[in-house]
Amino acid sequence: MDIRELASIKSGFFEALEKANTEGSLLELKGAYVGKKRGVIADLLARIPSLPSEERKAFGQSVNLLKQEVEEALNRALSGLNAKKSAIPKMDLTLPGKGSHRGHLHPLTTVRREIEEIFISMGYAVASGPEVEDPYHNFEALNTPADHPSRDIQDTFYLEEGDLLLRTQTSPVQIRSMETRKPPLKLIAPGRVFRRDDDVSHSPMFFQVEGLVVDEDITMADLKGTLLTFYRKLFKKELAIRFRPSYFPFTEPSAETDLTCVICGGSGCKVCKRTGWLEVGGCGMVDPKVFEFVGIDPEKYTGFAFGLGIDRMAMLKYGIDNIKYLLENDMRFLEQF
Ligand code: DAH
Repeated sequence: MDIRELASIKSGFFEALEKANTEGSLLELKGAYVGKKRGVIADLLARIPSLPSEERKAFGQSVNLLKQEVEEALNRALSGLNAKKSAIPKMDLTLPGKGSHRGHLHPLTTVRREIEEIFISMGYAVASGPEVEDPYHNFEALNTPADHPSRDIQDTFYLEEGDLLLRTQTSPVQIRSMETRKPPLKLIAPGRVFRRDDDVSHSPMFFQVEGLVVDEDITMADLKGTLLTFYRKLFKKELAIRFRPSYFPFTEPSAETDLTCVICGGSGCKVCKRTGWLEVGGCGMVDPKVFEFVGIDPEKYTGFAFGLGIDRMAMLKYGIDNIKYLLENDMRFLEQF
């Protein structure tokens, strides 16, 4: 055993120290070198008594020096690790969490789905049609001649490309459904419609629901009973309806439906203009001319149709006085539903 052997033990230790970068590996290294029982240095010290007496002193001093260096180096490395650890900011796990923000359905979606569910429960199918229509389905086949005011450029959005327009009503879905299906038919068609209109109760885009029933022996009494049942279910109140004679090109006879004012219950208020009644939609018996357009025999079949506004139903249900609130997507408004 000579000084050179001690030097190689020392360099072996420092090499290992360089690689040890966790507390566990440093402690392992400590055990291997300066462990009391089986450490490299304890072994060296144990050999002293067997050395020739003139070598003992110098060897003992060198081993002790090495032991000191190893211990100091290990202590420095361990305290360096601890300093790094305390630099990591502490978390307070007892603080309440931030909570997540849950979205919800838009009031128009909620009301549309309620309307659909009521009609589905009465045996109706839900149909749809294109928002970009041709004049045949939006007007002609609905018995609306070329000189009808609703066909005017003042009322309808015409597209520049081709002979197309944005549908002004969901009624063209009546035509498309009768073109592709045979009676008996019992359907509703909810969807967007577009008109050149803009004030507190009119928006250039709004939502309608069309209804159509075609079968043998369908009468206006079926129509009235259906609408009465529907409005009572939608507003969850024992409301009444009345029909007022009206005109639509595609129904004969046609009627305007009045519903007991859902705000005041019929006693008269601002919303119903003191009449106790609300005008809620048009309806009537399908005009035989419309049946001829779609090839249904008007001698065999009769039918009724109706149209109502989803926006208007939502406004009445939630007491909203401006249709624009429904379309502006202002969170202060939407969060109330
Ligand atoms: N399409 C009509 C409108 O937008 C509403 C309407 C009235 C639909 C009578 C109908 C109906 O199906 O029979 O003003």
